[in-house]
Amino acid sequence: MNERVASLLQEIEAFGKANDARVTDRSQKMLNITPETGEFLSILVHLQPAKRILEIGTSNGYSTLWLADAVSGNDGIVETVEKNPEKVRLARINFGRSGLSRFIRLVEADAAEVLAVAADSTYDFVFLDSERTEYLSWWPHVLRVLRPGGLVVYDNAISHKHEFEQFTAAVRRTPSCSKCLVPVGKGQLLILKHRDPA
Ligand SMILES: C[S@@+](CC[C@H](N)C(=O)[O-])C[C@H]1O[C@@H](n2cnc3c(N)ncnc32)[C@H](O)[C@@H]1O
Repeated sequence: MNERVASLLQEIEAFGKANDARVTDRSQKMLNITPETGEFLSILVHLQPAKRILEIGTSNGYSTLWLADAVSGNDGIVETVEKNPEKVRLARINFGRSGLSRFIRLVEADAAEVLAVAADSTYDFVFLDSERTEYLSWWPHVLRVLRPGGLVVYDNAISHKHEFEQFTAAVRRTPSCSKCLVPVGKGQLLILKHRDPA
């Protein structure tokens, strides 16, 4: 990671913490992933190696920049979806400042609409950090848009464990994948879509 991206990430992290301590309206909070989660996602993207990434829940672009920096090494792209116009505005500024814009496609939309029209087996890697109440209804689409051998990561799987119960039960019933909970940041639920469905 170059110095420009590293110092921008530190700045966005500090902004997010100060903002989230100050505002009470949840929709105005940035709710960024932890830096350790960013490092973890970055290693996963490098290892896979992922070229097509879908992120749901951009906020002001902190996690997107971790993903974009990693995918730039694979000559790939991150498509990131955010429905809040003010957060889209902030993310656009941050992407411009990062020098990584050519590795990012920012989509202002509801994720349900994006998932519904996305083609099958499009993505190597999907990162979800969004409306947890929707994860169960989005799951068939997430699985469908992921290529065989692809990886999905869900943030907050430990911090909001109870909100994942129905969803993880559905994943357990899905024959073509395996899952693993990793205690990094707020808890990362990793789901691998098998190459050869059982
Ligand atoms: C936890 S924040 C994302 C933080 C971001 N991943 C980061 O670490 O910098 C969740 C974001 O998801 C967005 N969101 C919630 N429901 C959504 C939906 N249905 N479609 C698109 N974005 C949504 C919210 O507006 C919010 O900005």
